[in-house]
Amino acid sequence: MKIPRKLSLANIPTPIQKLEYNKCKFLIKRDDYTGLELSGNKIRKLEYLLYDAKSKNYDYVFTCGGDQSNHCRATVYACNRLGLKSKIYLWGRQSKKYSGNLLLNKLAGAETRFLKLSEYKNVDDLMQSDALKLQSAGKKVYIVPTGGSNPLGIWGYINFVEELKSQISSKEFNGICCANGSGGTIAGILLGMALSGINSKVFGVNVFGRAEEMKVKIIEIVEECIKNYNLHVNVNFSNLELLDGYSEEGYKNISMDKIELIKDFVQNTGIMLDNTYTGKAFFAYNENFLKGKTKSNILFLHTGGLFGIFAKAEKFLSH
Ligand SMILES: Cc1ncc(COP(=O)(O)O)c(C=O)c1O
Repeated sequence: MKIPRKLSLANIPTPIQKLEYNKCKFLIKRDDYTGLELSGNKIRKLEYLLYDAKSKNYDYVFTCGGDQSNHCRATVYACNRLGLKSKIYLWGRQSKKYSGNLLLNKLAGAETRFLKLSEYKNVDDLMQSDALKLQSAGKKVYIVPTGGSNPLGIWGYINFVEELKSQISSKEFNGICCANGSGGTIAGILLGMALSGINSKVFGVNVFGRAEEMKVKIIEIVEECIKNYNLHVNVNFSNLELLDGYSEEGYKNISMDKIELIKDFVQNTGIMLDNTYTGKAFFAYNENFLKGKTKSNILFLHTGGLFGIFAKAEKFLSH
């Protein structure tokens, strides 16, 4: 077994808190506390990916995502800290109004290329061809795929399971639920659980794309990771469950019932969720694991993303 090395950028371990919402008790793990500029789930993956980039003397890091991408923002800030140049490829239109992650990117001097959805579909090729141009000028470019979700990036969430195990006993929960975007967080947790000998359900609330395709992608990343790092483990893929139908309004939108839940939740617990990932994930979590119960043994993982709410201020205030 080969365990990859990593940087230390995230504030970990993140706390696990006991909560009660709508008379139901449950546990929440606060990965929104991994940092501020580097907050959320992405930084756990970037610790591994950027160690790789830095130790191999790359000059540039390219990555991509939606215009309010938390992953791109965290990449820009981490690269600034590490003395790496970065360029981000965002699906969206450039506007004079900067808010949320776009404002943070702007202030951090992020080199940004905006793409229409039709162009974004070929973002991997675009990054590759821009990288070739820089390479011919003698620069080394490290390409991080969407969400940092590849066999190296998912070590962030393999490691997360070790952290979880040191904080609570596997008897205290029998499943974990979080948002699923590019699949890496769920892939890492699933593999981490198998490596730790924990037979637990992993629920991903799908916010982007179709669940069947996402499931194939998650399984592929896990299998590739097992092969690349020579891991001796059997993963029980029946533990993986993707909850679909909680982002029908579209990845960049949020329905009013979810906005209402986010507001009710923060008003009753003091914990803010975001509109793209954790608000949708919590809506699904509430519906499937809290409603009508007094105690839930499925742990909710808060994966961050708070800056996105500033770009949706009008929607949040419209009721
Ligand atoms: C706040 C937040 N939560 C959850 C996710 C989903 O994680 P993953 O892309 O690893 O599925 C993302 C990124 O996509 C995110 O930014």
